[in-house]
Amino acid sequence: MKSRTIRTQSEEETIALGESLAAELPAKVVVLLIGNLGAGKTTLAKGIVKGLEAAHPDEVSSPTFTLIHEYGPRVYHVDLYRLDRAEQVATIGLDEIFEREAVVLVEWGERFPELMPEERVEITLRAVGGDEREISISSRMHTDEHG
Ligand SMILES: Nc1ncnc2c1ncn2[C@@H]1O[C@H](COP(=O)(O)OP(=O)(O)O)[C@@H](O)[C@H]1O
Ligand SMILES: [Mg+2]
Repeated sequence: MKSRTIRTQSEEETIALGESLAAELPAKVVVLLIGNLGAGKTTLAKGIVKGLEAAHPDEVSSPTFTLIHEYGPRVYHVDLYRLDRAEQVATIGLDEIFEREAVVLVEWGERFPELMPEERVEITLRAVGGDEREISISSRMHTDEHG
């Protein structure tokens, strides 16, 4: 997966970007979705889940209260927003999920860097006015030739 920065102009464009990114993701990968509330993390997750054909975008919502959504055995969507401490995160069994042959999308994962695998993809989203979003993809997979 190539590191790069892209701008989208609408929710639909961000979903389409997620769909195309899905095709580039390894079968086993942790993807941190980083950005403020409303930046578009869940929207991008919808596109990735759609691209992976794991669920329809309407079925994808932020797992803010449930903490983890499972879209079939190969796709997980985690939201750590409501957790304050690493000990709480430990209780939801993330380590075990990270070991699976699955795409694991994590919102607010950057709040617990010590609990995230070193090998991962980071996608940072930023509102840059109106409906425009700057989306930076940074791959930290050892299999990539270029970081
Ligand atoms: N270019 C864009 N990409 C993604 N979302 C956008 C864009 N422009 C406007 N939006 C709106 O911003 C909000 C993003 O919400 P959401 O994806 O839930 O963010 P987060 O999960 O980061 O809190 C949605 O209301 C969406 O319609
Ligand atoms: Mg969200």
